[in-house]
Amino acid sequence: MNEKHSQRSGQVLPIITMGNPLLRNVSQPVENPLSDEIQTLISDMKATVDTLNCSGLAAPQVSVLLRVVLFRVMKTTQNPIYQLTPEYDPEGVPWTLMINPVITPLSDEITFGWEPCLSLPGLLGSVPRYHSIQYSYLNPLGKEETRIAHGFHARVVQHECDHLDGILYPDRLKNMADFGFKEEILKREGFLPLERSSCKT
Ligand code: NI
Repeated sequence: MNEKHSQRSGQVLPIITMGNPLLRNVSQPVENPLSDEIQTLISDMKATVDTLNCSGLAAPQVSVLLRVVLFRVMKTTQNPIYQLTPEYDPEGVPWTLMINPVITPLSDEITFGWEPCLSLPGLLGSVPRYHSIQYSYLNPLGKEETRIAHGFHARVVQHECDHLDGILYPDRLKNMADFGFKEEILKREGFLPLERSSCKT
C-alpha cells in the first residue's frame, strides 16, 4: 500500500547512467515545492546521496524530470584533481537543496577543471566552466535564496544544473583527449589516487 501522507525517511533511488534517454530531457520546473511529491523526492535524494560518496545529484539522475538539485562542496578537499582557486572556501558548502535554480555568469572568464559524474562512473573529463556565477533557487521551504560562487563551487553548481537541461559534461569537452578513465587520468596528470584512502576516513 502507498503511504503517501505519512512521514517517512527517504528511499535510496537507483542512479541512471549515460545512454539512458531520460538524462537527455529538459526537466520541468517545480510548481509547488511544498507538495508531498516534492518533499518525498527531496528525502529520497538525501537518502540516495547518503549512500554515495558524491558531491551532487540532480533529479534526472534518479529518473525524475524535475528541476531539483542537491549538492555540496566538501570541507577540505585534499584531492588534487580539484583545482582550487584562491576564492575556495576551506569550510566548503554544506549540502544544499535547490529547486528551479537559475545561473547568471558574472564574467566571461572560463576555467577548465576535472569533473566526475555519477552517471559516468569511473570517468573524468576536463570541462570549461564560468569561473564566477550568481545563482538563485528555492529552498525546500519554497523561499528564494541567492549566492555568489567562484571556482570549484561554481563548477559544481554548473555541472548539476546542466543535468536539468539534458546536458552531460562530455558535451562540453573541448578536447576528447582530456576525457578518460579516472585511474589513467590520475596517473597521467601525476596525481596520486588519493580518493580511495581519503574518502574512507
Ligand atoms: Ni553529473
